[in-house]
Amino acid sequence: MTILIENGTVLSATGSSVHDVLVDGEKIAALVEHGSALTASIRADRVIDATGKYVIPGGVDVHTHMEMPFGGTQASDTFETGTRAAAWGGTTTIVDFVVQSHGQRVQDQVALWHRKAAGNCAVDYAFHQIIGDVNAESLKAMDELIGEGITSFKLFMAYPGVFLSSDGQIVQAMQAAARNGGLIMMHAENGSAIDVLVRQALASGHTRPYFHGTTRPWQTEQEATHRAAVLAELTGAPLYVVHVSAKQALARIAEARNAGLNVFGETCPQYLYLSLEDQLGAQGEKWRDFEGAKWVCSPPLRARAEGHQDELWKYIRTGAVTAVSTDHCPFCMKDQKEMGIGDFSRIPNGIGSVEHRMDLLYQGVVDGRISLQRWVDVCCTAPARMFGLYGRKGVIAPGADADIVVYDPAGHTSIGIGEGRVHHMNMDYSAWEGYEIAGRVDMVLSRGIVIKDSTGYVGTRGHGRFVARSLAQNLL
Ligand code: URP
Ligand code: ZN
Ligand code: ZN
Repeated sequence: MTILIENGTVLSATGSSVHDVLVDGEKIAALVEHGSALTASIRADRVIDATGKYVIPGGVDVHTHMEMPFGGTQASDTFETGTRAAAWGGTTTIVDFVVQSHGQRVQDQVALWHRKAAGNCAVDYAFHQIIGDVNAESLKAMDELIGEGITSFKLFMAYPGVFLSSDGQIVQAMQAAARNGGLIMMHAENGSAIDVLVRQALASGHTRPYFHGTTRPWQTEQEATHRAAVLAELTGAPLYVVHVSAKQALARIAEARNAGLNVFGETCPQYLYLSLEDQLGAQGEKWRDFEGAKWVCSPPLRARAEGHQDELWKYIRTGAVTAVSTDHCPFCMKDQKEMGIGDFSRIPNGIGSVEHRMDLLYQGVVDGRISLQRWVDVCCTAPARMFGLYGRKGVIAPGADADIVVYDPAGHTSIGIGEGRVHHMNMDYSAWEGYEIAGRVDMVLSRGIVIKDSTGYVGTRGHGRFVARSLAQNLL
């Protein structure tokens, strides 16, 4: 099957040009000058007119948690529902986290995640490994996983008793990564300090969701980010700090990069748009009642008045933020978030956004925050390079997988579960209700197959394949 995507503006991380894109089977075969004799000679099985539209690489979301067990429940999107929602929103590759907790064997968990995902996904998928129990067995497994295409390892400085690694354990895991070429991903919040603040808040009757944010202040993120960067310098491991929400933490990442270290930052749409004030009520109320649980995630949404969002966009422009991912970790209000009524510390942490990342970041282009090229870079190309997918994913070039999005800048997207709005994630609410985007995902191809068109999702369960990743391709 050959497809010709005609006359679109093909965007890359570095530029744009009006070209026809020829797809042959699963791959991109050629970029051809529109109207040239060569184009005229091509007899494609299907022609897609992209006049007036952007043709971009399929989105690469390197931070999702499908079906992740958390706090006595599990994330409400399965690999099936979550990757279908990703397809709706123009994301054609996800990298999900295999979870190893205390007492579990890493390789058993990897096998479990393969079983959960295989045959269910609408788009391609890869895995990172969460090491929640750094010990001799898990350190050995880190070496084995490199050969299995799982080349990045997430550690936690938060969640004592669940996932938290001591500084000594972090050093050991970083030494392993420095040796085997893997990438350390860090959840950088000072969990011990946070636990004290949480206990104090609950003891004084501050039990509502709003206090999730006030008990995880930016200092706890800044301190942990700084410590992680210093330990990375000590061990020589590359470090990617996930879901950064505080401007002070990003300043530490920028500082480390300026010092020449392989330190990278990631942020998420929720930290660019939503804020702690969303958990406060309308005028007159002191804070929203339990509805604030919709926006409970860690690190928390930051106070708008503290000025984080402008700084985060600045760091996207200037490079300390390498990738924008979703940290997609959805829970329903009913029976899930509700577990925390009367005690905010029992609310499962996470927000669902896998469907909306491409749109929300495109709105950053419309708002004059980032260029078109930076949009493509942080959503597609840079995450592919950071996580060893580039060449196959993240670029429109001959030989790459034909993962392509046709994006309509004249279109419009209303997000939410209300009438006329879009939301295909398995959640009973949208954290993004009422957000309006001046653009629209028009068509999505995954390895040469149209999986979303103007009629909606037209893909199939099981089309998505596991992608074994190489080592990071962008180390300084
Ligand atoms: O609130 C969050 N971020 N939930 C997902 C788990 C994690 O730490 O990434
Ligand atoms: Zn995390
Ligand atoms: Zn996460």
